[in-house]
Amino acid sequence: MDFVETKRRSNFTRKIVLAAGITAVFIFLFKRSPAPITSTKFSAHEPGVTHVLVTGGAGFIGSHAVLRLLKDSYRVTIVDNLSRGNMGAVKILQGLYPEPGRLQFIYADLGDAQAVEKIFSENAFDAVMHFAAVAYVGESTAEPLRYYHNITSNTLLIVKAMAAHNVKTLIYSSTCATYGEPDKMPITEETPQVPINPYGKAKKMSEDIIRDFSKTSNMAVMILRYFNVIGSDPEGRLGEAPRPELREQGRISGACFDAARGIIPGLKIRGTDYKTSDGTCVRDYIDVTDLIDAHVKALAQASPGKVGIYNVGTGKGSSVKEFVEACKKATGVNIKVDFLSRRPGDYAEVYSDPAKINNELNWTAKYTNLEESLSIAWRWQREHRNGYNG
Ligand SMILES: NC(=O)c1ccc[n+]([C@@H]2O[C@H](COP(=O)([O-])OP(=O)(O)OC[C@H]3O[C@@H](n4cnc5c(N)ncnc54)[C@H](O)[C@@H]3O)[C@@H](O)[C@H]2O)c1
Repeated sequence: MDFVETKRRSNFTRKIVLAAGITAVFIFLFKRSPAPITSTKFSAHEPGVTHVLVTGGAGFIGSHAVLRLLKDSYRVTIVDNLSRGNMGAVKILQGLYPEPGRLQFIYADLGDAQAVEKIFSENAFDAVMHFAAVAYVGESTAEPLRYYHNITSNTLLIVKAMAAHNVKTLIYSSTCATYGEPDKMPITEETPQVPINPYGKAKKMSEDIIRDFSKTSNMAVMILRYFNVIGSDPEGRLGEAPRPELREQGRISGACFDAARGIIPGLKIRGTDYKTSDGTCVRDYIDVTDLIDAHVKALAQASPGKVGIYNVGTGKGSSVKEFVEACKKATGVNIKVDFLSRRPGDYAEVYSDPAKINNELNWTAKYTNLEESLSIAWRWQREHRNGYNG
């Protein structure tokens, strides 16, 4: 009896030890094997499909670019840290194009080198449209390091990742702020770039990095220098919705709409004694629909080993007074206007010569009527009093 009992016990112990051993081996093997790679439509190149990484695709211009790219049958990955963009815009785009392999959203900060490397190693991009940036001139003067980090250093990371993963095409969002205060108007691509604020300088440095790198590579590059962007999707699906805390930094269209909705008491026009037709500053306003059309044309015509540099503007300047009159008509609100003295750092006139992009990319601005562009934008603003939150 004793002998049988002891034998049974020792068998039992042996089984326990064996089971524990097998479990330990499994745990060991499991821990050593890399995380399972889930293959998706985004992770491999597919003949006939162009996969575009849109950085900053939750923002104003980026979201409009994604909409157009999806409409034109591109495959799109958005990377955004939502610091200034809206998840609401991404949700609208996902709702419009829910099919697998059309659109994916990755929440990541482009300043995080490890995250960027992971994104490029897990996805097969054919092109990058690099919109993500902080983009307010006034803020850049107050927080220059933030601008050099977010714009210049992040662009360096993107270009390095593109080179390491052999991504062939880059479309870069630059700005007329890289020209500074030119003596002569209109601004051509040959106008010397002498930026006068950290925003313009950071963008110019990014351009320089891209141009120097391109001399050593076969990458196809297009640098687009935008003038003042306004408007929104004519079908009313997307709009411009900066964070409330950024309103102060804001652009003239946002301020006009805020005044029309009574969020601010009125508009302050700073400077009425410039040497312009009516004494107020003159700017070149480009509608976002036209701007995105320029991107799509640039993407289609980018060629390996070449850098195309283009101004994207209408070629026509409008004064602040004209802009405000157009905004009053578009909103139907008699916006109160106060005229103040000049703001330091503002220059009198800025407008583009778009001949190069007209001729080489066969692009021309179509939405050149301010009142029409502002009416389209106002429709969205009126229906979305809290931006994408309702
Ligand atoms: N709006 C204009 O008038 C204008 C004029 C000239 C050039 N640009 C350029 O166009 C681009 C887009 O501008 P916008 O008006 O759409 O601005 P936006 O603020 O609406 O969009 C920028 C997007 O980038 C994202 N982003 C910022 N930093 C990021 C980071 N580190 N990682 C990941 N995502 C990040 C933000 O969350 C936001 O969604 C910018 O590069 C800007 O410099 C704009």
